Amino acid sequence: MTVARGVDLLSVAQHLGTAYGAFNVIQLEHAEGIIAGAEAIELPVIIQISQNAVQYHGGLAAIGTATLIMARNSELPIVVHLDHADDVDLIEEALDLGFKSVMYDGSRLPWEENLARTAAIAKLCHNAGASVEAELGEVGGKDGAHAPGVRTDPGQAAEFVAETLVDSLAVAVGTSHAMADRSAVVDLELIAALEAAVPVPLVLHGSSGVDDAGLQAAVRAGIRKVNIGTRLNQVLTEAVREQLAADPTLSDPRKYLGPGRAAIAVEVARLLGLLAKPG
Ligand code: G3H
Ligand code: ZN
Repeated sequence: MTVARGVDLLSVAQHLGTAYGAFNVIQLEHAEGIIAGAEAIELPVIIQISQNAVQYHGGLAAIGTATLIMARNSELPIVVHLDHADDVDLIEEALDLGFKSVMYDGSRLPWEENLARTAAIAKLCHNAGASVEAELGEVGGKDGAHAPGVRTDPGQAAEFVAETLVDSLAVAVGTSHAMADRSAVVDLELIAALEAAVPVPLVLHGSSGVDDAGLQAAVRAGIRKVNIGTRLNQVLTEAVREQLAADPTLSDPRKYLGPGRAAIAVEVARLLGLLAKPG
């Protein structure tokens, strides 16, 4: 199967009133586990590699190419997405490698600059046959869109999308990144207002901090892409810890990373299922 464009999958979700999960890859086991989970429940999935993860690996080509090959080897439509990127060279490299979905993160920039840069990146991605997600939080907010307390204004969001021609928009509605517990409360009224004001699919970041009922309520209110990173790291690490604790002589990484990868697959299938049937 060819790697899907982000916007094509999200348009289906918009039509169905559902959402797709977008899961972050750090190790190859993440990508393998995410695809195994999607295949187990037979639902499309978005696999994303963040600029931070690229920095960790010292480059995109190796981890990005491996992920693209895994996606192409699946029977499912799978989007391979570059997440939270602000480096234009990296975005161009991702497009050259075959990524069909990119998030340009200009959320820390002043309004005019975020608008101009996002519009230029949208043109670049569209010319390469890829779709683009942008982010709008507190205009000029120093901590980006997903710091606690930041909210996206529906009027500004509509203007931003019309001016930049982005295909989807990440909004600040009460979540924050890398929460270790699921205690975030999403602002459902704001999601509904944003959904009414903005024609493109809405994206929820920092979704590990939201419990199952909150995720489903956010989808019912209008979220179409749910970004989850920390939660998968938790289940991976819990499984690894259990294996290492059970046998302190263990040294073959396959013996502990294998169960970690299997735990990711189970959690991905579970989450995709509840996003596909939000009630
Ligand atoms: O872009 C990725 C996410 O927003 C993941 O956030 O690690 O808090 O789930 P999370
Ligand atoms: Zn994010």
